[in-house]
This record gives sequence, C-alpha cells and structure tokens, in this order.
Amino acid sequence: MSNYHIKHLEEYYQVYRKSIREPENFWEEIAEEHFIWRKKWDKVLEWDFSKPEIKWFQGAQLNITENCLDRHLATRANKTAIIFEPNNPDEPAEHISYLQLYQRVNQFANVLKSKGIKKGDRVCIYVPMIPELAIATLACARIGAVHSVVFAGFSSTALATRINDCDCKLVVTADGSYRGAKTIDLKGIVDEALDSCPGVESVLVVKRIDSEITMKEGRDFWLQPLLDNASTEGEAEVMDAEDPLFILYTSGSTGQPKGMVHTTAGYMVYTAYTFKNVFQYREKDVYWCTADIGWITGHSYIVYGPLANGATTILFEGVPSYPDFGRFWEVIEKHKVNQFYTAPTAIRALAKQGPELVEKYDLSSLKVLGSVGEPINEEAWHWYNDNVGKRKSPIVDTWWQTETGGIMITPIPYVTPTRPTYATLPFIGIQPALMDATGTELKGNQVEGRLCIKFPWPSMARTIWGNHQRYKETYFSAYDGMYFTGDGALRDEVGYYRITGRVDDVIIVSGHNLGTAPIEDAINEHPAVAESAIVGFPHDVKGNALYGYVILKDFGETRDQDNLRKEINQIISEHIGPIAKLDKIQFTTGLPKTRSGKIMRRILRKIAHNDLSTLGDISTLLNPEVVEDITKNRLE
Ligand code: PRX
Repeated sequence: MSNYHIKHLEEYYQVYRKSIREPENFWEEIAEEHFIWRKKWDKVLEWDFSKPEIKWFQGAQLNITENCLDRHLATRANKTAIIFEPNNPDEPAEHISYLQLYQRVNQFANVLKSKGIKKGDRVCIYVPMIPELAIATLACARIGAVHSVVFAGFSSTALATRINDCDCKLVVTADGSYRGAKTIDLKGIVDEALDSCPGVESVLVVKRIDSEITMKEGRDFWLQPLLDNASTEGEAEVMDAEDPLFILYTSGSTGQPKGMVHTTAGYMVYTAYTFKNVFQYREKDVYWCTADIGWITGHSYIVYGPLANGATTILFEGVPSYPDFGRFWEVIEKHKVNQFYTAPTAIRALAKQGPELVEKYDLSSLKVLGSVGEPINEEAWHWYNDNVGKRKSPIVDTWWQTETGGIMITPIPYVTPTRPTYATLPFIGIQPALMDATGTELKGNQVEGRLCIKFPWPSMARTIWGNHQRYKETYFSAYDGMYFTGDGALRDEVGYYRITGRVDDVIIVSGHNLGTAPIEDAINEHPAVAESAIVGFPHDVKGNALYGYVILKDFGETRDQDNLRKEINQIISEHIGPIAKLDKIQFTTGLPKTRSGKIMRRILRKIAHNDLSTLGDISTLLNPEVVEDITKNRLE
C-alpha cells in the first residue's frame, strides 16, 4: 500500500525520504494504486534540465476526466461534486452530483466536437465563476482539446494576446458576469478582442445575466440550445501521458505573457496527491477554494485535484465584500465548509472590518485553513488563526506557482507544526535548494538565498507554448541543473522555509502576478509619455501596490497632471485590466540608469518604500542627479 494519505510527522519524514531516495518507485506506486489508466507507462521518469526536457509516465495512456468523473460513478454517482454558490446570496446554490457533472461534461464535449474541435486544438475559455467554467474546462480535457482559461477580469487586449499566442479556434464566454453589485459586459469585451483574432471560428455563449448582446451570424452561438440537443454520453479521448492538458498564461518580466504548458499524467497525479494531503480531505468533507478558475489555484485545487479525489468542491461566483464583508463566513456556515483556502489579500481586507462579522456566523465546521499567492504577513496570519480558525484549525501556508502546477512547500495540517509566515517544509518529492549570488548552493540551516528546485516533480510545466527557448532561459539558465523559481527564501534553524518575495521584475498585487514590462509598455502608449518605470511598494491590503515614475515628452507642458494620471490608468486598464492600475504616479524628468542604460529599479523601489537611508552608492550611475530630484518630489 503506498502512502497516499499522510497522518503524522514521522510518517511525513519517512515518506519524504523515500520520495527523494527512490522518486521513480515512489511516484509509480502512487500512480498505480490511485488512478485509472488505459495503458500503464513504460518509464516513470526521463529528464534533462539542460535541454530542458521532462517526461513523466512515458508511454502511459489515460484521460484525466475518466479519473475525475467516470470512475466515481460506481460509488459516488449521487455525491455532490460541485456546489455552485452564486454572487447573489438570494439565488439558490446549485448542487451538481458526480453523475450530473459527468453528463454535462459529455454534452459540452459533444457540442465542442460539433463545432469541429479535435484533439490538440486550443480552446479559449473566458467565462466567469459559474458551473460552465468548470464544465467547459473538463469538456476540453474529455476530447483532448487544450484549454486556455483566461481570467474573465482581463481586458480585451490581454484576451486577444492570449487567444492569438496559442491560436485558439473557439472561444467559450458568457453574455456577461456579476461581480458584487456590478455587471460586466463580457461578450462586448470578447467582440472587441476578436476584431484582432482572425483564427477564431466559433464562439459559444452562456446566458448568465440575460443582457442584450450582439451575436455575429455564423460565428456566435448560444450554448444552451446546443447542449439541449447533445448526448449525455461520450467516449473520452485516449491521451498520452505527455499530451498537453492546458495552457495557462502568467506574467513575465518581458511584455509577452508566458503560456505555461501542463501535460496530462504527471499533473493529474501530483495535484490529486497534494490535494488529499495538504487539505487532509475526508470523504464527507466540503472543501472551498475562493480562487478563480482563471488562475492555477483554481485549475489545480477547485477542478482537477478535488475531482480526482471524488471531493465536494465549492465554486463561488461572488466577491468577499458583497452584499457585505461577512459573505465568506456566511458561505462557510451555509455549506458547513471543512477546508477553506484563500489568499492573504482577502484575509487582510476582511481583517480590516473587525471581528464582529466573523463572530456572527458559525464556523465550527472548519478543520483546515489555507493561504496562497503571496507571503502572508504575521498580523494577517494571527487574525486568520484567531478569528476564523479559533486557534484549532491549522493554517497551511502553501507556496507554489503557475509553473509548478501544484503545491510545493507547505505544512501538512495536523502533521507539521505551523509557524506564522513560514511555508515550512517541502512537500513529498520536492527538493528545494537555496543558492547564493555566485551560483553556489547554501547548505545547512539558517541561510537565505534564491529558491531553486533540484529535481523534477510530476506537475511541473513542460515548456512555454511556442517558445521553448524562453522556458529554458527563464527557469533553467540562472543556476546550472536547477529550476529557478524567481523567489527568494530563507531556511530557519529547523529547516523551515520562509518565502521572502520575488527577486525579479514581477510584482504581486492582491495575489496577482504582474510583470513590470507589460504595464510600462501600456503607459508608454500614452502620447504624452516618453518613458516610465514601475515598482511595488507595501500596501496594507493588497500586499503590494504599484508606484509609477513617468517622464513626459514635454515636461513643461501645462497639461493637468491629475487628468494625465487618470488617462494613464485608463490605458493600463484597457491593456491589462483594472488590477494593474497604479496607486501613485510621479512625473519626473529622468530615471536613474546604469551606464549601460538599465533602469535601476532597486533605487526606485527604495524611494517608493520611503527607505532613503540605504540608497547605496549612486555615483556610478549615468545620471546620479535625478535621484535627488525624484526623492524630493516623492509622493506620500
Ligand atoms: O512569489 C511567489 C508567490 O506567488 C508566485 C507565483 O504566482 P502565481 O504563478 O500567480 O501562482 C500563485 C498561486 C500558486 C510565487 O513565485 N507565492 C505564491 N504562494 C506563496 C507565495 N509567496 C509566499 N508565500 C506563499 N504561500
């Protein structure tokens, strides 16, 4: 019997050691005993980080939806797979059983096929958090189409870039979406995007808000009538272990987003195994992850990980503040949630409201609390522990990335003693390393460096869509023979890891990963802007907010600066989305640069942080005089 479910610390260490000593045997046992395969593998692992090439379970054949749906029908047909909790608390929640989910996924898959979608085709899913989002995702997997889910809060430009980058043939969307008290015209955004996406042949539209929209003849189709005519049965496509399952875009330090490619077998095995252990999920539990399926957290821990374990997973359409800041707690009480997984930015926003709203609701069902997306600060950790978990539900501070596919460093609840702000220990099979600036591994404890991973794990991304060279350069070139995460971390005296934050040009705002370059590119499109640089600065709810330094083309120009700020944020909103708007915009005559012309973000960051005592030696700059000017005019 393999150690699928770890229950105490000694067992963790024992299983961990085995997973490191004999990774192939270890993962083979897990794969063998807990999943169904059309054909078993010929080889468990083949890898070479110098190419880089990583293959898990080569030769195996399977369909991930048979593991998430079909195999549960014998024992869990009537068990709830998905609880849909709508934006409006007065609208009833919907309980979708495993049998119903199986039937709805087949219907959707049959509709996709009727629109000419075949194995390997890319399908873009731009749908709000309603059941059709999960169903469309699974329907693609059912027929072997590669899904590319785009967060339905992204702008038309961001959507178009993602559709074109991977040549999607079909887009799934909705007429509109609810977000708290607001509605959003999703179909309008899609129409605008598609003006520059010649490769899209069809658009399937879910009716959600019943708004007036335009439907383009021959291209756009209402989904419901097509579903009504589709069979609830359908053969799952037989996939190779390494066939792509999905593409998910993440920001990088250059303008073009990176389409991370995840493949089938390894992703399934690792997300299912981590879900079971990190949330200590038991058969009758109700699990809730508040992320959007548009992010990796939703892919791995709303859809695939939970469903592969036959779990009940909540899909929440709303926001934490609507109709008031008690909504999360109301949902926990209503559905008797056992595991609750959210982000530090949400915790901080809720903590600001005081404890009254939390105390109003019965949260006694909770057993495990999770945090993900950015470092959780000590204050937020304690607030979460005291007020939500009542000091009896362990907090799992889970560190991972879009690229890693699944949780990498985390406590196992009731197993690993937690420590505020520490992600604690590597998960089973994960071999972290901390590196110094010269490329030497820092051994032993009480060290701080750049976080790398030394050995492949099953759910790692295999490439960047259409750009393997960029994959190699971004993740495998900084340190020989290692995957570089882009994060800094320290290892304390007992070997616990604490993630200290990004060390590259990515800024995490409210848990959203934002590259500086695409935002600067957007700012620079404003006709009055000559050049710009953005940095993050600490913000008590968002974690980080954005501070922009902008050089205008004609600085003496008498244009109203507040208007300019509004226009710049408007452009950012259109190009990327409202999440990327700048909190502060300082107009300046220059940016500090090295002699080779590189912007010294370190200095700009210090100024934005109001940390002026440690600017360091600025005399080697090309233009040291601008530092004083920028400091003098710094915005509070
Ligand atoms: O900097 C780390 C931070 O989020 C980055 C990954 O972002 P993304 O690909 O959007 O995936 C987020 C959800 C998995 C990481 O490089 N991060 C994520 N989780 C944590 C974290 N930083 C500190 N602690 C965490 N628990």
